[in-house]
Amino acid sequence: MAILKIAKMGHPALRAPSAEVADPTAPEIRRLIDDMLETMIDADGAGLAAPQVHVPLQVVMFHVPEGRDEDVLDVVPLTVLINPVVEPLTDERSVDWEGCLSVPGMMGAVPRYTEIRYRAMTPGGERIERIAEGFHARVVQHECDHLDGFLYPQRMEDLSLLMFSDQLRYHGEGDDKDAADVDE
Ligand code: NI
Repeated sequence: MAILKIAKMGHPALRAPSAEVADPTAPEIRRLIDDMLETMIDADGAGLAAPQVHVPLQVVMFHVPEGRDEDVLDVVPLTVLINPVVEPLTDERSVDWEGCLSVPGMMGAVPRYTEIRYRAMTPGGERIERIAEGFHARVVQHECDHLDGFLYPQRMEDLSLLMFSDQLRYHGEGDDKDAADVDE
């Protein structure tokens, strides 16, 4: 296992669409997942996508730890999605704070669909399908956006809410001060 270098906003690896993984069970995919996991833990992230470690393949991982989501009591153990497809189940979107390991030191208020269905392959070669809401839905949309070459600022509707994390902490708005950040 190895800790990989994380690409920062501006690197072309973060703007390119990723390719489908032909064989989710291939040894090189296993190795990539092991390295991504070690990298995500080292960086204290809630999620990571392969393009963030300069690999243009459709692989993401995330988890939802306890206490992360106040509205939805949804603890999700580490989940690896290969070739994921996300489908909104509602037109409703909510705005909440996100961070990203590729946009270090910053946070932004990002609208996301409140309920989604996602389908993917697991590293074991099985199909997975889940319905998600709250932070779970948010983190999946954030990570899967990386596979299409999108970073969260591109999803923002009000760029005045793109801030340095310390400013949000000191001058943030009420309850939002402690709001969920996705990658950091
Ligand atoms: Ni990110």
